[in-house]
This record gives sequence, structure tokens and C-alpha cells, in this order.
Amino acid sequence: MIVEYGGRSIRLREDGERPAIVLVHGYPLDGAMWSSVARRLSDRFRVLKPDLPGRVENPASPEGSIASYADFIEALVASADSAVGLAGFSMGGYVCLELMKRRPPSVKALALVDTRATADDEGGRENREAAIATVRAEGVGPIAEAMLPKLLSPDGMKRTDLVERVRRIILRQTPKTIESDLTAMRDRSDSTDFLAQLALPTLVLAGEHDVISSPAESRAMAQKITGARFLEVAGAGHLTPLEQPAAVAQALGDFFSETLS
Ligand code: MLT
Repeated sequence: MIVEYGGRSIRLREDGERPAIVLVHGYPLDGAMWSSVARRLSDRFRVLKPDLPGRVENPASPEGSIASYADFIEALVASADSAVGLAGFSMGGYVCLELMKRRPPSVKALALVDTRATADDEGGRENREAAIATVRAEGVGPIAEAMLPKLLSPDGMKRTDLVERVRRIILRQTPKTIESDLTAMRDRSDSTDFLAQLALPTLVLAGEHDVISSPAESRAMAQKITGARFLEVAGAGHLTPLEQPAAVAQALGDFFSETLS
């Protein structure tokens, strides 16, 4: 599929048949964080796992706002030419919530995966500033080492293949893109009140040991969305799609099969 965005034609890889599922990645990652889940879903859906601007498969300039990332996903879902199931992981969830405020007509079901509706508080914004200073001074390496134990559960951190895979994804991001993500997350608006206005089938997932968006916070978020379901993913930290891909693919597959058919 080709998406016209930022004066460029962005070519997206896709896999499988309709209906479409669009999987939006988090920070400091790219679409590859969804690979294991996408492979499992591609026999039932046309799966897209785009890179947000500023990454390997999306050379558009990263603009440092959740709204600009949502502009790209909005262009993508408008090009999909079919019903779309949208899933956003963490920062990708912030992007999906921003997009849903624009009520894209093709999006028929939403999955919020290890994400939050709240904005950063003062401490959170200070942490973003510190991370921006780090990436400017020292590059992406320290960001990767600081993020790994937040992304993976203690058991996940013992799986050297998994740790290496996540590290590789982070280290291929540019400092400019990392700074764009941090700025976008620092400045994002609070979507808590908007949750009650989400008028489409919604699934909320969180890893049992998620330290960034806890199961308790995710359950509370689901309770604010009419008819939403909540599912806790056992044996995973924040990065459930890479730590427990079979469970996440099963949950998303069942949910989107039911809601997009
Ligand atoms: C993510 O996983 O996308 C980020 O860690 C979310 C955040 O820092 O708010």
C-alpha cells in the first residue's frame, strides 16, 4: 500500500487478506515490535504495522507531536479502502486516541494495548526533558539501556534473545526520532474525559507486570469506555506483543474477528 504523507509516498508492507488491522507501535520502537503478532494474524486479516514518521520504513520527517503521528495514521486508514481494526501500543495508543477524536469513518474497532489516557504529570515531563538531554548528548545507547527493564518483565529480561531483539530495534532509531517521540509524549493532552465518547467496540490489554501502564490503570481506563473489555496478559511486562505474542495475537484476533465481521 502507498500512503501519501508529508509530500512523500510511503510504501507499506502488508500481509494477508481483508479486513485490515493497523498495528501502531510505541516508543522507542518501530513497526517491527509487532512482527510476531502480525505473523500470527496474517492468515485472518490484512495486517499493517507501519513505522511512524522518522523510521526505517517511513522517511517522512518526525514532527514531535502526537497530532502529526495521528495525521500519518489517519492518511493510512483513509487509504485502506476497507473496514479497519486499529490497535495502538503505548505511545501508539496515544496516537490512536488522538485519531479517534477525529472519528475516522473506516475504523470500526479499537484495541488499546499497554497504554494510558492520562497526560504526563510534572515529574513525567521532567523525565522526558532529562531523556531529551541524554539523547542529544549521548545518542540512543543510554535510552536503550534505560528502557529495556521498563519494557520487559524481570523474566523477560532473562531471555537474552528477546532482550537483544528489543535492543536492536531501539538502536536503529535516530536521536532526532527519539527526541520527536519524547517531545510528542511530553506534550500530549489528557484523553481521560474522551474515553466516555468512544463509541466503538474497544478492547484494553495490559501486561501483568507492566510498570509503565499498570493493569490497574488499564482496567480503570476500560471501565470508562462503554462496553469495553479488559484483559490482563499473564507473564508479560509492558511490551506484551513481543513478550507474549501468542496471547496478544489470540486476544486481538478474537476481538477483531468478532467486531469486524
Ligand atoms: C511507550 O512504550 O510507547 C512509552 O514508553 C510510553 C510512555 O513513555 O509514556
